[in-house]
Order: sequence, then C-alpha cells, then structure tokens
Amino acid sequence: MTLWGGRFSEGPDDVLWNYTASRTDRRLLEVDIEGSIAHVQMLGSTGILTPTETETIADGLRAVLTEAQAGAFEFSDSDEDVHSAVERRLVELVGEVGGKLHTGRSRNDQVALDLRMYLLRAGDARVAELSSFVSMLADRAGRHAETVVPSYTHLQQAQAVSLGHHLLAYAWMAMRDIQRFADLRRRLNVSPLGASASGGSSLPVDPRVVARSLGMDGSFENSMDAVASRDLVAEYAWVCAQAMVHASRLAEELILWASQEFGWVSFSDGLTTGSSALPQKKNPDIAELARGRAAGTIGDLTALLALQKGLPLTYNRDLQEDKDHVFRADDTLSRTLEALTALVGSADFHPPAPSPWVTALDLAEVLVERGVPFRAAHEAVGRLVAALAAGGRALDEATVDDLAAAHGSFDAADLARIDPVDSIHRRATPGGGHPDEVHRQVEALRDRLASRE
Ligand code: ARG
Repeated sequence: MTLWGGRFSEGPDDVLWNYTASRTDRRLLEVDIEGSIAHVQMLGSTGILTPTETETIADGLRAVLTEAQAGAFEFSDSDEDVHSAVERRLVELVGEVGGKLHTGRSRNDQVALDLRMYLLRAGDARVAELSSFVSMLADRAGRHAETVVPSYTHLQQAQAVSLGHHLLAYAWMAMRDIQRFADLRRRLNVSPLGASASGGSSLPVDPRVVARSLGMDGSFENSMDAVASRDLVAEYAWVCAQAMVHASRLAEELILWASQEFGWVSFSDGLTTGSSALPQKKNPDIAELARGRAAGTIGDLTALLALQKGLPLTYNRDLQEDKDHVFRADDTLSRTLEALTALVGSADFHPPAPSPWVTALDLAEVLVERGVPFRAAHEAVGRLVAALAAGGRALDEATVDDLAAAHGSFDAADLARIDPVDSIHRRATPGGGHPDEVHRQVEALRDRLASRE
C-alpha cells in the first residue's frame, strides 16, 4: 500500500519499488510511533480531531508500539518505508479513522523528527560507551603511573613519560568526543514536526505542543529549514568519525606496541587471531579493523556532506540516503568502542625502559637552572650527544670528563640525571608526565564522568 495512490492510474512498478523503497529506516520504528502519538495528541488538543478520534488513534498506536517493542511488528514488502508501515498497521488495527493520523503533517517533517529522536538516544548510548572506555583507560593509567616509556615526536624517542600519561592522552580525546555528543544534543533536541511538506499547514497545528510532549526543548523556526536540512545528521557522523579517528590512532599504536620490535604489550589469546600459514603469529586484528573501519566512517561523513551540497530546498528523496550513512557510522563507533575497551582493558603492558637519550633535554635544563641561556645549553648537550654517538657510546655511558668538555657548568652529580626514571619524577609541571600528574588526571577524569551521571 502506498500513501499516495489517488493520483496514479496504476500501481508502482517493481523496478521503481525495488529501487526506491526504504528498508534501512526500519530501525526508526519505535521513535516513529512515539512521534506519531505526540502528533495525534496535538491534533486532539488543538481540536483538529475529536477526543474520540484522538483516543482511538492513540490507543492503536500504543498497540503498534507494544508490538514493535516486543519485536513482533511485521513489515510487509509493500511498505514503502517505516512511516507507511506504521500507518498501514494502524489502519489494520483501528480501521479507517487511522487515516486521520497524517493530518497536518508530511513524511518530510516526520522523518526529520524521527531522525532527531533516534540520534538523541543513540548519542546518549555512545556517551555511555565512551564513558566506559575512558574509565577503563583511567584504570589502566593509574596502574601504570610509574611505568616509564619514551614519548615520541617524529616517531623518534623524545622525553621520558609515564605509560599512564600516554594512555590518558586518549582518555582526554574520548572525553572531548563525549562533550561533542553532549553539545550536539542541544541542537538535535528541537522538533521539526509541524513543518508539514515544507510550508506549514492551513490547519491550526501547534508544533510547540508536540515538542513539549516529546520532552524536546522547542520547535523549528523555519519550516523549510526543518524539512530540508541534514547538517545535524552530518554533525553526528562527524562526531562518530572523529571518535573513530581517535580510536584508530590508538589502534595504530597498539599494533606497533604489539610488534616484536616494540614489545610493549601482549593481548590475551581470546582477543587475538592466528595465521593460517604462520604458526608463530598472534595478530592484533581488533586494532587493525578499528583502524580500517575508521576509513568507512570518514566515508560516511563525506557522503553526508556530498548528499546535501547540490540539493535545492526543500525535501528531496536523495535525503533518504542519510540514514544508511549515519547508522553505519554510529554502529561502527559503537562496536569499535566495545572491542577496544575489551582489548586495552585486558592488555598486559610491559614496555622496555626508554633509551637514556630521552634525558638530553633534562641535562640542558640543568644548565639553564645555573643561568646558561637555553640556546647555549641545547648546543652544549648537542655536542655531548654527537661526541658520544661518534664513539659508539650511549648517553648513560658519559663520564664526568665528557660533561665537563661539553660545558663548564656541569658537575659530577649531573651524571645521575641521565636516568629516564629520575627524569619523570623531576618533571613536575602541570599536565606533564610525572606519576602524581597521572593520578591527578585520573581523579579529574573520574570527577568529570561522575558529574555527567
Ligand atoms: N523514506 C523517506 C526518507 O527517508 C521519508 C520521506 C519521504 N517523503 C516523500 N515525500 N517521499 O527520506
């Protein structure tokens, strides 16, 4: 059954139907029915429908909602989309009066409302998953506050830091992903229902009543914007894509760290895969697929931007495609967070000590404390590094004479500064890699998570 037969002398051709009917939108089923209940109640409260009509339709929709919640709602191949399916089922249950449900609205404002309702809930679910992810990272970081690793710049060992500090960098990224979902919530929480096809209605519909009964912050200001715009869908996909990009960077590091060359981490057997050819292999496939799937999410965001760019106002059927992309991006993020939370949460971190070279800046800062200009101190330590490297020695093989040759302000006790563990304990600047700063960050993250609950 279509919702638009009157103008047509024959039914839709299979070719048309197969190409245009939507299946992806079936996951909007529950929000579609809830939106319809709010709509019919507005039609009653504004006197557009009688109390009896309103109650009959609302009761019918509640029955459809119960079927949907029980997983018992049956779609038919002849349903053009989820909205048609709900109206078809309503009429089956309550008879012809069900045909009054669509009074004063169109599928254009209806689908715009459904999407907002769906994405509000999905965003809340992603925030909960991201919170578990942050909490897991905070836990792991707290236990590795004293584990010393090199930080890298240009993938060259840079300074000594706590492994906990490194892990917490990802926790702060995820915390901002949480904030992005929360911020987007304010923009999503506005109802477009009542915009009708594009220009409102000659009936006295009241969009504010619908918004209020759905617990939304308000209703649209411009009916054409309400039905034509998909910026918030793209924004949702962007938040997913950015969170996936963060996940992908972590995944890339986990893959490197699990290599024999790094040897920083081992994953449990249950969360790694083997090779059909190479008996010795234990592959970090979860991390590799997280990295790979970030690509698809970026693609979904790109598709959503491209989908909008050439569209004249207002609704165009092209917009039906938005759901495929945003749902996939959302699903990808959800599944990735679950998998990475399990993988990192059970990982065994055992990084080797960093090379003594990571203390070179500390040595320069010793000179700075004694009044040597930083540029001169940098130069002196650079000379020391070059001399040692030329002789095939590492920094911790330097002697008092080497220090003295590099700069007259060094003294013998400074040799003790060539120690990565000493390095992280002396570097106590706010937000730096000191173990106390790791514990402070863990507390700060836990406070933020608790204040969101
Ligand atoms: N299935 C459509 C979509 O997802 C619903 C809106 C259809 N509107 C229309 N005038 N055909 O976008």
